[in-house]
Amino acid sequence: MAAAKWTAADIPSQTGKVALVTGANSGIGYQAALELARHGAHVLLGCRNAAKGQAALTRLGAEAPGASAEVVELDMASLASIRAFAAGYAARGVPLDLLINNAGVMALPQRELTVDGFERQFGTNHLGHFALTGLLLPQLLASPSPRVVTVASLAHRNGKIDFENLQAEKKYSPWGAYGASKLANILFAKELQRRARAAGTALLSLPVHPGVSVTNIVQNGPGAKGLKMQVFKLLAPVLMQPDAIGALPTLYAATSPQAEGGDYIGPDGFMELKGSPVVVQPRANGLDVATGEKLWAVSEALTGVVYPVFYPVLG
Ligand SMILES: NC(=O)c1ccc[n+]([C@@H]2O[C@H](COP(=O)([O-])OP(=O)(O)OC[C@H]3O[C@@H](n4cnc5c(N)ncnc54)[C@H](OP(=O)(O)O)[C@@H]3O)[C@@H](O)[C@H]2O)c1
Repeated sequence: MAAAKWTAADIPSQTGKVALVTGANSGIGYQAALELARHGAHVLLGCRNAAKGQAALTRLGAEAPGASAEVVELDMASLASIRAFAAGYAARGVPLDLLINNAGVMALPQRELTVDGFERQFGTNHLGHFALTGLLLPQLLASPSPRVVTVASLAHRNGKIDFENLQAEKKYSPWGAYGASKLANILFAKELQRRARAAGTALLSLPVHPGVSVTNIVQNGPGAKGLKMQVFKLLAPVLMQPDAIGALPTLYAATSPQAEGGDYIGPDGFMELKGSPVVVQPRANGLDVATGEKLWAVSEALTGVVYPVFYPVLG
């Protein structure tokens, strides 16, 4: 008999846990926040736009009456915003149990820079989350069973980490930069797991991908006008899944007792486009330890965020 498909109904009680979801005002981030709150977690909706955050909070309150959630200001394209949030969270003096690195931008037609001068996709999708996770590490390690889930993409498959062109300063392509940022998400999540394990901590780090899900980024985002996305949108009823289903890999990675650190979770359907969460495999580029280690060092240098708590144990 085939194993039962994992659904949101399988999420164990999250009562007593605190979860932060970046980019929680729409799509996969909203759906993940909703289910975590529905199952008892106190959820921080990390949003760059306060009005959108409030609208999401109102919606969440209507869809999960009695749930515990709040909006926090967090712009993943700004190290100052990330540092301000992390300092504010540290001042609360409470552990952080779940960090969902979800916010993302996709296939910007022209090369854009963040306020810190990073190419916007690499800066938002990877460097911002690298910095946020590092700054929140003390609060994560104060939890008895912390998990960090990082939302990657099938697009990592064509991604390449070119250390000579990391900010796409020499050559830019919308999908090239997106693929690189999503590959970086996988390399980061796996390297974080290796370091957390080597340091003897209980932290689990898992990369995930949502297949292809009907969300803003796909329907209306800056990258949605290109031919690739037009074809996808035409085929949406066949190829794509609702955002609530696209959030299941994230939720499985964040909550399932069966999930193991370093596992890559994605949909089980045709070409991993949609379906129920299972362990899947990244392409070889996502398993390249040497590139993961180098990316880590470069990310520390670029963001100025060093992960000190790991070093005494690693030696
Ligand atoms: N949908 C898919 O098929 C698919 C496939 C593979 C991977 N993904 C990944 O899934 C994640 C979520 O995307 P989605 O599909 O749910 O699209 P979405 O509905 O557009 O959600 C993206 C979220 O990220 C937020 N965001 C963007 N830049 C931000 C910043 N600088 N600071 C804070 N938040 C920021 C957006 O906020 P605003 O509303 O303010 O823009 C929004 O809340 C992304 O990492 C994406 O790469 C999606």
